[in-house]
This record gives sequence, C-alpha cells and structure tokens, in this order.
Amino acid sequence: MKKPAPSFETPDMRELEEVIRGRRTIDQYLQTKVPDALVQEAIDIAMWAPNHHVTEPWRFYLLGPETVAKTIELTRSIVATNKGQKAADFKAKSWSEKPGWLLVTCQRSEDDLRQREDYGACCAALQNFALYLWRAGLGTKWTTGPITRDERFFEIVGVDPDQEFVVGLVWYGYPKLTPEQKRKDVSEVITRLP
Ligand SMILES: Cc1cc2nc3c(=O)[nH]c(=O)nc-3n(C[C@H](O)[C@H](O)[C@H](O)COP(=O)(O)O)c2cc1C
Repeated sequence: MKKPAPSFETPDMRELEEVIRGRRTIDQYLQTKVPDALVQEAIDIAMWAPNHHVTEPWRFYLLGPETVAKTIELTRSIVATNKGQKAADFKAKSWSEKPGWLLVTCQRSEDDLRQREDYGACCAALQNFALYLWRAGLGTKWTTGPITRDERFFEIVGVDPDQEFVVGLVWYGYPKLTPEQKRKDVSEVITRLP
C-alpha cells in the first residue's frame, strides 16, 4: 500500500512555500498605482509578527508625493557629493520610478536586549508585509542605504532619531522584472545535535 503523503504536502502548504520561496527583491516596477487599502491591509497583517513582551515596537510611515520628492532630492545631493552629478541624476531617476514608499522604524530602548528583540520583531513584521504583498502580485525592496541613517532624512519624514531608528525603507509595486536568486543547500546550514 502506498504510504500517505506527509501533511505538509498539501496544496495549501505548497502555495505557502511558493510565496516564501518565490518572493524576490524587486528593483524595477511597472508604473501602476498600488491600492492604498491593500497597503494598509498589508501593514495591519505585518503587525502580527512575534514581538517579545508584546512591545509592538514597529512604526510605519507611508510617504506621499511631497515627502518622496524631498527624499529623492536628498539622495541626489548625497550621491552627487560622493560619486558625482551623473551618478546622482541616475539614482534620482531610478528612485522616481519606485511606485510605493514605506519607512519602517523601530522604537529605541535603553535596554540592549530589548532593543535586539524589538529589532528582530520589526524585521519579522517587514517580512510579513513583503510576503503578503507578494501573494497579491506585488514586489518589495528593503533598503538600508546611507539615506536611512541621514539626519536630513529624519527631518524630512519627521522621525526623532533619539526615539526611533530605521529598520528599512521599503519600496513596493507591481514587478517589471523579477530576478533569479539562489540559496545554499539546506544541509550546509543545519547542524543536528544529539
Ligand atoms: C536588512 C536588509 C537590508 C537590505 N538592504 C539592501 C540595500 O540597501 N540595497 C539592496 O540592493 N538590497 C538590500 N536588501 C535586499 C537584499 O539585497 C536581498 O534580500 C538579497 O539580495 C536576496 O534577494 P531576495 O530578497 O530576492 O531573496 C536588504 C535586505 C535586508 C534583509
């Protein structure tokens, strides 16, 4: 008699696997508007990430056109200083093609352990956000580039850096191009202990 398939080999589980494995960081997007209600829903779901002591340390900032324009000009000036005007204009053009902008911050804590745990929780929330949107046909890109540590950026978004730090600036939208990725074989990262 054929052995019954293990419980994880159900269509639901394969679908979940497909979402987790298939999600890619997306750099190039279609210029299609993303429904605001979908993004709000994704944030609401993201908050169901585990968080020690239920601190709910995450804060989400949805950047509107004025804030995005100021952010792009700031990155243009940062890149111009470091790499020259041509590179700066290229970057500003590329950023102007990102359809959606979400800033995820974590509340600071005096306590080192709590801060680590809170950061972990925020990362889990950010991944929830990305996976939910991926299932809805949208891609994301999580960035921690220099702008996310720049005081001028904190002023633009109205974040007090003494109270919060940036977990990631996240772009989202419908993918124009989905790149390939690879991972190590799982046996390389598992250590089985007796
Ligand atoms: C904390 C964090 C910061 C990241 N920052 C950047 C970044 O600044 N620039 C970038 O191109 N990708 C960034 N990424 C995305 C990774 O490069 C990406 O996840 C990796 O290339 C694997 O691709 P995948 O997400 O499609 O599996 C970041 C990812 C994480 C988790």
